[in-house]
Amino acid sequence: MKQIIGKLPGIKISTAPEDLICYGFDASGIEKSPSAVVWPQCTEDVVKVMKYAYEHNIPVVPRGAGTGMTAGAVPSKGAIVLSFEKMKKILEIDSQNLTVLCEPGVINGKLQNELERTGFFYPPDPASMDFCTIGGNIAENAGGPRALKYGVTRDYVMEIEAVLPNGDLITTGVRTAKGVVGYDVTRLLVGSEGTLSVFTKARLKILPMPEEVITLLAIFNRLEASGEAVSKIISSKIIPRTLEFMDHETIKAVENFKPVGLPKDAEAILLIELDGYPASIKLDAEKIADICEHFGAEIKMAEDEDARSKLWVSRRAISPALYQIKPSKINEDIVVPRSKVTEMLKRLRRLSEESGIKIVNFGHAGDGNIHVNIMVDKANKEEYAKGLSLVERVFQDTLSLGGTISGEHGVGLTKAGYIGMELSEKEIEIMESIKKVFDPKNILNPEKIFPRKG
Ligand code: MLT
Ligand code: ZN
Repeated sequence: MKQIIGKLPGIKISTAPEDLICYGFDASGIEKSPSAVVWPQCTEDVVKVMKYAYEHNIPVVPRGAGTGMTAGAVPSKGAIVLSFEKMKKILEIDSQNLTVLCEPGVINGKLQNELERTGFFYPPDPASMDFCTIGGNIAENAGGPRALKYGVTRDYVMEIEAVLPNGDLITTGVRTAKGVVGYDVTRLLVGSEGTLSVFTKARLKILPMPEEVITLLAIFNRLEASGEAVSKIISSKIIPRTLEFMDHETIKAVENFKPVGLPKDAEAILLIELDGYPASIKLDAEKIADICEHFGAEIKMAEDEDARSKLWVSRRAISPALYQIKPSKINEDIVVPRSKVTEMLKRLRRLSEESGIKIVNFGHAGDGNIHVNIMVDKANKEEYAKGLSLVERVFQDTLSLGGTISGEHGVGLTKAGYIGMELSEKEIEIMESIKKVFDPKNILNPEKIFPRKG
């Protein structure tokens, strides 16, 4: 790929081995070397790169911070990685219309901090928010703990400026509070995993900061009881902003990794947060505490901002913490109807006992979204194969309970072989036709989402 050097004057390009290594993997643990890494600084640079790639049939893989869990940003053979590290400006906070316009390389947590300084709030809060980018969040339709009350990234994207594979520039969506002219292409681009277009700007909806937040920790000595409490809270018509679950192995791993005083002997904990007007959330918090106590939990409340923030630092560290259990893991992110969380947890425990493979579970219980981590050592071929064979069992159980095989991590490479378990042939055919309309040469993040043919 050395021939790209010098062809795009003014744009930083590298084919240095150290860059090819650093930009060849994401949080899935899968690695493939790209042929070059390109750092555009503006929309025009992206247009130039795409025109060049289109003309020369070179695959392009857009990349935020590489925090994705399904290898969506892992380059395909010969691909150029388009890294958005230099396009990280917050362009406009429009306090009259409650929107923010930003470039794709803005770090989610940085955007949150900037907005909070002026009394605004951007709810989507993926666990990797201190590193992940808004562009990556849009590509994956990222969720996070607060999705329970506030929804996911898709619910906040109003307008997208995007470059098509042939270099054409489009702007989709509206900057108004409503808009129904034609098909909703913006919603289609959100969650398209970098396969349809390359984002260069996004206008996001923002909200006023909630008045107050209450954070509770409910400690259970029975796993099932935690799931039952989740169902009861939701069916009692209380919607906290988070209802996060950790099982015993998760608690132990994260407390050893980043000690904050979590009860290592508990069978499960729920991290529950409410926001809104002080008087009303105080009442809801009391009701939630009563429900959890009814299911045998002990309740603790974060006394101040420091205690709250420690709990969240711990929650966000779960993913890396689990590597203490095994050097690798198969990380799934199934969703079941909220009323089926307990049943799914029971099935996962049974599967773990039958197979002898440790399955560690945590996640966004209020959404029915369980991060199922099958702990296997990739270097141990037999164990890894056994772990992989459990994935299909987990998906079968999920689908039989009326769920979906991915709530927030997307399909990428790791789940491409399984989408036929959930989607009909016709649906896959429609999706593949859409891909062809946007990308007739199949140069934009090829091999992702769709099962390999033949
Ligand atoms: C999380 O909720 O922590 C993330 O989705 C990451 C993960 O599943 O490991
Ligand atoms: Zn998650």
